Formats: sequence, structure tokens, C-alpha cells
Amino acid sequence: MDLHAMDRYIKSLIKEAGHQIRNSFLTDITIESKSNANDLVTNMDKEIEQFFIERIRRDFSGHRIFGEEGFGDDIQNTNGIIWLLDPIDGTMNFVHQKRNFAISLGIYEDGIGKLGYIYDVVNDDLYHGVKDGGAYCNNEKLRPLMETDISESIVAMNATWSIPNRYLDHEAIIQLIRDVRGTRSYGSAALELAYVASGRFDAYISMRLSPWDIAGGMVIAQEVGAITTNFKGDPANLLKQDTFIAANPAIHQKLLEKYIKFK
Ligand code: IPD
Ligand code: CA
Ligand code: CA
Ligand code: CA
Repeated sequence: MDLHAMDRYIKSLIKEAGHQIRNSFLTDITIESKSNANDLVTNMDKEIEQFFIERIRRDFSGHRIFGEEGFGDDIQNTNGIIWLLDPIDGTMNFVHQKRNFAISLGIYEDGIGKLGYIYDVVNDDLYHGVKDGGAYCNNEKLRPLMETDISESIVAMNATWSIPNRYLDHEAIIQLIRDVRGTRSYGSAALELAYVASGRFDAYISMRLSPWDIAGGMVIAQEVGAITTNFKGDPANLLKQDTFIAANPAIHQKLLEKYIKFK
């Protein structure tokens, strides 16, 4: 299947999954904790991941799947075609708010992002990116990011990282919060990346994200010129958890050099 046929297939798959998630609002969902009391997972996270996996295995033999809930493959390298899937990114929002969550999907070939999708299920906004083919929201092309400066930037970050911790230079992060125009925290890495791509945020930074949180969003954000790396400035990790920054090209380097300093 070529990229365009795959793109059409994936869009209808994602819309179908979104429909299932919206329908779940009418039923009782089962909520459990994972690594700690605030790390939630529901039956819908699992069911949606299984829904994608069944379809991918049926229609794309040989492709591998790296999903948050663990129903996919055991991925130890980036060889071949891998679907990186977060069935519900922002589960806490899904449970508490019934909004501000997304389906996130990235298709990578030998470690290179080819297709990326972020579906804001409740608003029915589908962001997608095609490598060297542009980024879109509901099939309308997103514009390249405009030149900006730290003092005029809105930076998305979780307030947790402004609490003194053993990884980051606390004073530098506080200085960042002082120097930017504003900070935001929406609780869905995928949506926050979609907002960087659409220019609503100028940067999104996180101390710890997994490959499925960022795989789809990176393809989309890169198509409008955003730079996506870990805090060392290296390409983001597609195999395990790592630090992550996506930023307008005018401020990416400045953020890393001046404000995000590892101890
Ligand atoms: C989480 C969200 C959240 C981020 C966490 C992620 P999940 O994903 O993206 O915004 O801060 O690090 O784990 O668990 O809701 O899919
Ligand atoms: Ca989770
Ligand atoms: Ca996630
Ligand atoms: Ca998730």
C-alpha cells in the first residue's frame, strides 16, 4: 500500500476508534491504577489498542506495533515499519473531564517518521502529517511556524517540573517561567504537540515521555518546522522513555542552553 492509501485507511480507522470512545461516555468504564494511584488506565485504553492491533495485523502483515498498553509487539529496535500507538493519551483527562485527550499514532520506517496522527476525539479535530507532504488539521494545511522570541512565547510544561528535583537546575526553570509570556499544562502530550504544530504553543517540554506519546506528533510538528529532540539535543528516543522538547526553531536552542539544564 502506498502512503496515500495508507493515510486514507488510517484516517477512517482513527475516526472509528474515536466513535467507540465517544460511545463509552454513555456506559460505565472500568478504571484501574498502573504504576501509582494517579497513573490511570481504563477498559477503553485497552479495548482501543486491541481494536487497532486487530486491524493492523489483519491488513498490514509484517508491520510491528508498539502500543502503550502492551498488546502489541516487543519492540527492541526500529527496523522495518512500526506503528507507535497511544490509544488514549491523557487518560486522566478522559476519566475526569471527558475531554482534552487524544488518540496518537505514528508510522515509522527504519526509524524515520512517515505518517503522524493526533485525533482530538471530543472536538473531532484530526491533525495529521505526511513526511515531506505537510501537516494538516482536518485536512487544512497548517502554516510554517513564524519567528518568535522567548519573551513572546507560550510554553507548555507540567508544573511538576518546577518543583525542585534531582535532574533539573531549579533556578533556570523558574527563570524560564518568569521570562516567557505564559505557561500552560493540558495533560496530553499528544494534544500539546498538536498545539505546537498549529502555533498555539511555541514549545512543549517534558522530563519523561514514552515513544507512543510523541511518535505521531513529531511527524506533524516537524512538517511545520518545529524541532523535536531530547534535552541533550539528540533525536527523540523511539524505543524508551526520555526527556523531550518540541519547539519553534527560533527558540529551541535557547531553551536548551539557557533554561533546561541537567544537573
Ligand atoms: C500521559 C500524558 C501526560 C504526560 C504523561 C503521559 P497517558 O499519557 O501525555 O500529559 O505528562 O507523561 O504519560 O498515560 O495519559 O497516555
Ligand atoms: Ca497511561
Ligand atoms: Ca500517553
Ligand atoms: Ca495512553
